[in-house]
Amino acid sequence: MINIAIFASGTGTNFDAILENINAGKIDAKLVLLVCDKPNALVVDKAHKANIDTFAFNPKDYADKKAYDSAILKQCEQHHVDLIILAGYMRIVSSILLQAYPNRIINIHPSLLPAFKGKDAIKQAYDYGVKIMGVSIHYVNEDLDGGAIIAQQAFNNEGMSLDEAEQHIHNIEHQLYPKKIQKLIKEGI
Ligand code: GRF
Repeated sequence: MINIAIFASGTGTNFDAILENINAGKIDAKLVLLVCDKPNALVVDKAHKANIDTFAFNPKDYADKKAYDSAILKQCEQHHVDLIILAGYMRIVSSILLQAYPNRIINIHPSLLPAFKGKDAIKQAYDYGVKIMGVSIHYVNEDLDGGAIIAQQAFNNEGMSLDEAEQHIHNIEHQLYPKKIQKLIKEGI
């Protein structure tokens, strides 16, 4: 059984979906750690309620990115983490973690990459007027929302409001991410 860590910064609906799938025996892994850069985020409460060890830190308490990524790495090593899953983690992961976890850090992004990287990707795509929207799961590298694509799922958003498109994207995420995580684990990551 492999150990996974989730890195998140916000609401944690993907955290919920992954944990539910683990508890239902649909992902063969143990969730051993939540890493969060916003100690007041909802996802931290969720992890506490589920008795998941949490490393919630304030980046301002560290000299620089290297310093907090080293602290994160230490936590991951102490928890014997094999795979890092970013789910709404709003920070670029530095080489400290990338070198320790080569091809073992993945992310989900709410657009069809390489289009609409960065923040507010759903709104960016919607405002651009795209007719096909979607979700991407990819390996993480040092470029924002860069890295080889693992999976994508698209849909035709014509006739949808921004809210409807957002809801649709989140529904896709909550199905697709657990499924692909399990596939990676089965394939030996
Ligand atoms: C998701 O839309 C994900 O694609 C993006 O951030 C959002 C996180 O939402 N990277 P949640 O915290 O999992 O609810």
